[in-house]
Amino acid sequence: MIQSLRGMNDILSEEFERFEYFLSTASTIAKRYGFHYIETPLLEETALFKRSVGESSDIVGKEMYQFIDKGENDVCLRPEGTAGVVRAFVQHKLDKKGGIHRFYYHGPMFRYERPQKGRLREFHQFGVESFGVDSVYEDALMIMMVADILKALGIGYRLKLNSLGDQNCMPAYREKLVSFIESCGEAICGDCERRKLTNPIRVLDCKNEACQALYTNAPKLIYNLCDGCQSDFDTLKIILDQHDISYEIDTNLVRGLDYYSKTAFEFVSDNIGSQSAIAGGGRYDRLIEFLDGKPTPAVGFALGIERLMELIVMPESVREGYYLGAMDAAALAPILKAAEKIRRSDKAVVEYEPRSLKAHLKGADRINARYCAVIGENELAQNSIWVKDLVEKTESLILLNDFFV
Ligand code: HAM
Repeated sequence: MIQSLRGMNDILSEEFERFEYFLSTASTIAKRYGFHYIETPLLEETALFKRSVGESSDIVGKEMYQFIDKGENDVCLRPEGTAGVVRAFVQHKLDKKGGIHRFYYHGPMFRYERPQKGRLREFHQFGVESFGVDSVYEDALMIMMVADILKALGIGYRLKLNSLGDQNCMPAYREKLVSFIESCGEAICGDCERRKLTNPIRVLDCKNEACQALYTNAPKLIYNLCDGCQSDFDTLKIILDQHDISYEIDTNLVRGLDYYSKTAFEFVSDNIGSQSAIAGGGRYDRLIEFLDGKPTPAVGFALGIERLMELIVMPESVREGYYLGAMDAAALAPILKAAEKIRRSDKAVVEYEPRSLKAHLKGADRINARYCAVIGENELAQNSIWVKDLVEKTESLILLNDFFV
């Protein structure tokens, strides 16, 4: 039997209800914040991710689903959504147009990671990207939107916050950090040795415990911010306080993608095991120019849908729509006609096999229908349909001509 690939899952029945519930809740909230849906391709040129997510990141360095297509193009399945949205933004000249552009999206992402609970090779993100606002109020808006989505789904969280500085404060900090790393000598791991040369700040995020112990005394960027970054970070904290969103400052939060500057944040859950990040995001003011666009401030986030699935508190399911069945083979034709009429405004599910009334009532229960509508010999003779409201527990006989007119 052919099985799905490792780390790639089907989403079936009850789980799909959760998935759909998540998407409709998150999309409704994104629209309320003034965001518009954007769809970008799953397959992009590999260069897009190398130039945005960054060659020094694990995502690009180790985890890409990359291949040469039949036209000899170097392509890969998207490992995340931001790069594609930025490419579309630049390609369609929205950067030249100016103004504010706010997008939301959802769909599958692909990373060739070692599968485990909460870590898949194909997973789904819901994300938003905002272009053209350099005010830190937009950073706060992102965090408030994630908080709203999680609240609507009944999901608790901890919010981790950091500032990654900008081109004014980052270079001097990077020098300080590199001399600190060098002072650690050969005690650091091979990955950190590589990071020291490519993107030193990523050492702070190293999962190796020995490295972590060494880095407790490392200089922290948060204490080396320039005035502009410091003032934005202070304002962000004030806005969050005003909106009762609690946060922890995490000086080691550097995020796994290279494009961030200034605000970086992660929402974590303590109830889903070691892969605890349920959402992440931040500001990426330089990315648009890295991808040949006009410099444009930008900020965004993405939620990992699979990691949220088991945490979602579903609303109590309500009976809805019609279950229809014939008690006599000759009654199937009017049943199908009745179903066609219902579907113009409501849900209708038909059982094709003639069954007893008791069996049909069971069938209606099974699909959680609000109404059970049946035609048997008597109803046929009277050109009518028998309908039971399974919530109100009332029954009625309705002339077919008067049914859903
Ligand atoms: P990210 O932190 O790499 O950020 O991913 C966002 C979320 O996707 C994570 O917090 C996690 O919930 C989920 N996720 C990541 N990898 C996996 C995996 N292998 N299996 C299951 N879930 C996973 C980004 O992707 C950025 N594009 C976010 C962003 C948007 N920043 C600015 N705009």
